[in-house]
Amino acid sequence: MKTTVYINNKINKFNKIINVPGDKSLSIRFVLLASQAIGKSISYNILRSDDVISALNAIKKLGINFKINKNYCVIYGKGLDGFSCKNNTIINAGNSGTLARLLTGLLINLKKKIIMKGDQSLEKRDMGRIIMPMKMFGQNIVSKKNKMPLIIKGTSVPRPISYTEKNGSAQVKSCILLASMKTFGTTKLKCIQSRDHTEKLLKYLNLPIKIIKKKKYDYISFNGKKNYKGFNYVIPGDISSSAFFIVLTILAKNSQILIKNVNVSKSRTGIIDILKKMNAKVNLKNKRIYKGESIADIFVKSSNKLKSINCPIKMNSRSIDEFLLIFLVSSVAKGISKFKRIGELRNKETDRLKFANNFLNKIGIKTKVTKNSLNIYGNPNLQLNKTYEIKNFDKDHRACMVSFIAALVLGGKWIIHDTDSINTSFPNFINLLKTLGAKIN
Ligand code: S3P
Repeated sequence: MKTTVYINNKINKFNKIINVPGDKSLSIRFVLLASQAIGKSISYNILRSDDVISALNAIKKLGINFKINKNYCVIYGKGLDGFSCKNNTIINAGNSGTLARLLTGLLINLKKKIIMKGDQSLEKRDMGRIIMPMKMFGQNIVSKKNKMPLIIKGTSVPRPISYTEKNGSAQVKSCILLASMKTFGTTKLKCIQSRDHTEKLLKYLNLPIKIIKKKKYDYISFNGKKNYKGFNYVIPGDISSSAFFIVLTILAKNSQILIKNVNVSKSRTGIIDILKKMNAKVNLKNKRIYKGESIADIFVKSSNKLKSINCPIKMNSRSIDEFLLIFLVSSVAKGISKFKRIGELRNKETDRLKFANNFLNKIGIKTKVTKNSLNIYGNPNLQLNKTYEIKNFDKDHRACMVSFIAALVLGGKWIIHDTDSINTSFPNFINLLKTLGAKIN
């Protein structure tokens, strides 16, 4: 398959209604929670991307059957003690940190030795953040320098824990919640707020989760071990995928777009609040609630007179996957945009802070970067006319896709490598861009 593309033209004006694929976080959570239900669960509009396929292959290795086609995905769960496999089973989480971390929680009570691997990028990422709480539950989990592969052996009597999560990581929080589902007694979590899909799903399944929201922390308690029946779920569009089209439209000329049926959970809409503060024309329409999640259509218009932002720290977790796009908008906004305490970006599929800094400098934007912060000196007159080659980004899907957006709105000639990385989260990204008129070879 051809994995290098060439973009030599800006996108012309467009006016379209589009759908983006199902939410990745919810798709992976559906697979994992359905694997623990008793009986059949069905989801519609599940994301069919590499990360979700890795999740399906993982539960299959643990003895859970599934069917997937264009219209739906069925999973035949076997309850909280239903995983079965041989000792030394190898599970490959591919590129997905969400899968690796959440599944480790579900392995808490499986008394077989599992070797959990990932691709090159995942094997560089920190697993110490889940190893600690999993050991407290009583899981035997071994790694070299807190990196994958993880060698995991569960216990038949996990102990409930009390834990404080300080990174604002939904993956750590969810790993602990999934382990607590299989643990008799009450697990207590104090955590910096982050995306809350797991909590909402557990509530929807009528499981005994209690949440008290205070200013900075959520206090969550969960009383395991209660089995539940199979369930149905229609997965809404992914705001993180929508974000590429939101920013494309803002930065294109005389264009507008309506993105239908997107998950707009408050824990995910930092990008919309940030872009609005920067003067962008983005609005939510037709807002509704589905099984505890907020859904809406997102309407966006091309926006000039963008202004810089001093990004409040409380936005960080709410826009964690969208910073590359927010940085791109900042590069053409008037003034100096400032982002603080964003060191978590260094622990994503690639070091996104380093990638962003190099990328912005490459397109002629002045920056000031530290371990944990970035200042961007915006240039509203930015127009490119050189050749830009994008490579060596650890196959980070979002680094790859943001390069397409820059190419389509800023001009210049672009050569973008490793575009197969896009299959991680958004397999029809290039085709969808083409339906708006983008010329991509
Ligand atoms: C995710 C949580 C976030 C996010 C990732 C998906 C999830 O990671 O970056 O893409 O589905 O829980 P962290 O929990 O590491 O912040």
